[in-house]
Amino acid sequence: MKRLGILTGGGDAPGLNAVIRAVSRVSQANGVELLGFKNGYNGLIHGDYMHLTMPHISGLLTKGGTILGTNNRDNPFNFPVQESGKIVYRDMSDKAIENLEKLNIGCLIVVGGDGSLAIARELSEKGAKTITVPKTIDNDILETDQTFGFDTAVNTATEALDKLHTTAESHHRVMVLELMGRYAGWITLYSGVAGGADVILIPEIPWKIEKVAEKILNRKRNGKYFSIVVVSEGVKTPEGDYVIRQTIKESGDPLRLGGISHVISKMIEDTTGIESRATVLGHLQRGGSPSPFDRVLATRYGVAAAKLALDGEHGKMVSLKNGVITSVPFEKIPSGCRVVPTDHQLICAAREMGISFGD
Ligand code: F6P
Repeated sequence: MKRLGILTGGGDAPGLNAVIRAVSRVSQANGVELLGFKNGYNGLIHGDYMHLTMPHISGLLTKGGTILGTNNRDNPFNFPVQESGKIVYRDMSDKAIENLEKLNIGCLIVVGGDGSLAIARELSEKGAKTITVPKTIDNDILETDQTFGFDTAVNTATEALDKLHTTAESHHRVMVLELMGRYAGWITLYSGVAGGADVILIPEIPWKIEKVAEKILNRKRNGKYFSIVVVSEGVKTPEGDYVIRQTIKESGDPLRLGGISHVISKMIEDTTGIESRATVLGHLQRGGSPSPFDRVLATRYGVAAAKLALDGEHGKMVSLKNGVITSVPFEKIPSGCRVVPTDHQLICAAREMGISFGD
């Protein structure tokens, strides 16, 4: 094999550059060229790529984002093209495969979340050789214990909680922090425990305002005049609806969640009579330098993906299982997202600590 390809798709996550660096190093050590497609699948369709050599990868380990660029819209199977002055959506997957063949790419490594990974799998079903690397701050990919990016996001969220604590205490307020994670509560659960939250609300556990208020008022009775509530963006309103920040028609999952913390904050104020403020942490969770854990995980994933590709294997996702890096064939990965089991050990430990889940 003379060449490998790599692209980063979906929302960015800390550690993408560390994967690119690892794949590049292993490729170079084996005398194999690495081409990086720009801006996710867009670069693959348009043949827009760069040669990833030493000068490009130097200094990448600590850098957030992705030097290749990314997007969470473009899908080769439903790709926007200009026709008679209008944008229409066409199946361009043949073009993607043709470009891989034209460029003599033995295997394409796709680093992405569920959307990008599903596309890589579809391309593989059409004959392309692909290997995937699970990335997302949400930690919601099935068949791996952890995605890279998650640990850094938890660190960022925990730091935010530490800061909210001081203002909550000074003003005798309830501070509600809203975190990303889509339909899974991993970031909220882990940072909630790490940041000493009093109430943790995640999509997996239905909540009631009476229970949240009870916890806050109990604390007040015990002389704690402030409380910290942490809530996932994917938590539903009492009416059973998501709070939608934006809808992006052409995206695989068009819904962009955001704003539930404002609803909950108002309800807390109305029910307890205690002043409450909401903060939406938003995209800060995706930014910045990867944590040491994510640098290590991304490097391990990158090395494993490159080695699989160099060994001529494909149709697999690299994965972390019980601390060991392994790989899972695409056909063994069920569709859907990995949510927090409601009997997860950390939920049980948090309950023992007196943390309320609003149920
Ligand atoms: O999947 C990562 C993620 O940050 C989610 O936690 C969040 O819901 C979504 O992406 C935000 O997407 P966008 O960057 O398009 O606003």
